[in-house]
Amino acid sequence: MSYTEDALIEISGLSKSYGKHQVLTDLSLTLTPGIHALLGPNGAGKTTLVNILSTLIPYDAGRVRVLGRDPQKQRRQLQRLISLTGQYAAVDGQLTGMENMLMMGQLFGLSRSEAKRRADALLERFELSSAAGKRAATYSGGMRRKLDIAASLIAGPELIFLDEPTTGLDTRSRQALWDEINALAAAGTSIFLTTQYLEEADVLAERIMVLHGGSIVAEGTAAELKDRVGASTIQLHDAAGHIVETLPTRGDAAGLAAQLTRIAAERPEVSVTVRKPTLDEVFLELTGEPAAQDQQKESIPA
Ligand SMILES: Nc1ncnc2c1ncn2[C@@H]1O[C@H](COP(=O)(O)OP(=O)(O)OP(=O)(O)O)[C@@H](O)[C@H]1O
Ligand SMILES: [Mg+2]
Repeated sequence: MSYTEDALIEISGLSKSYGKHQVLTDLSLTLTPGIHALLGPNGAGKTTLVNILSTLIPYDAGRVRVLGRDPQKQRRQLQRLISLTGQYAAVDGQLTGMENMLMMGQLFGLSRSEAKRRADALLERFELSSAAGKRAATYSGGMRRKLDIAASLIAGPELIFLDEPTTGLDTRSRQALWDEINALAAAGTSIFLTTQYLEEADVLAERIMVLHGGSIVAEGTAAELKDRVGASTIQLHDAAGHIVETLPTRGDAAGLAAQLTRIAAERPEVSVTVRKPTLDEVFLELTGEPAAQDQQKESIPA
């Protein structure tokens, strides 16, 4: 890697205001290479943070390093190493899919033949080959989104910022994009994405950050975040699949095994699922929105 420090992103004491409106307050965070998801309610400042990290907007105070570079002072250098797919698609509707790709390649200084070669491969990967010669204005929303992301990958960046990449995509396209993100990560590209979909963070991200009140209120793997909310519960279902009882666990394997053995002996008629707290429950607890009442209602002390 071309940067000296091992960290992908290092932030300390970052603040950002729009006029009197303070959006980020004394935010600190260190990330190593991998897939990272930033969660937060609407208006939390996700786009603001992504835009700062990807050199689009300045910050007011603090120390910020992305791939060892200051996005404010080493803007040009950093721009060669990263790509950004913004929350709102940035493709040119008057150009064809291929022309959009080539324009982006040119912007990043690729030769025309190299740009064409990469564009062909990327359009193929995003299932846009047959639409490559059509104007992007005629694409569906999902196709535009995919083109937008494909174009941002043409220069082979080390780090990709994706601001709500799958908003508005259907299930199939979302899955295809998840596969693509995983493939990129496996090939050594780091991903920083924001999402409104907790499931997306859960299945995709190695580490998840929750942005609330201007700073990061939690950071860790999905499992670590879920552990903060509590251990797993055992749910007993009747023949119709209805939950008839929910039992708390201590969270360790030996305790769980003993509980399951007892249930098998005493209640052979029930089927059993063991359930971790969902990321939804974690999110609601951390951001102080109306909490996950459902699980509590179901809970019956052992
Ligand atoms: N250019 C701007 N000028 C003034 N205020 C802004 C500007 N951009 C964002 N804001 C405000 O900053 C706050 C954070 O906005 P931001 O777009 O970063 O949130 P977000 O977490 O990305 O939200 P969403 O989930 O809706 O995309 C909001 O209150 C927003 O109104
Ligand atoms: Mg946003």
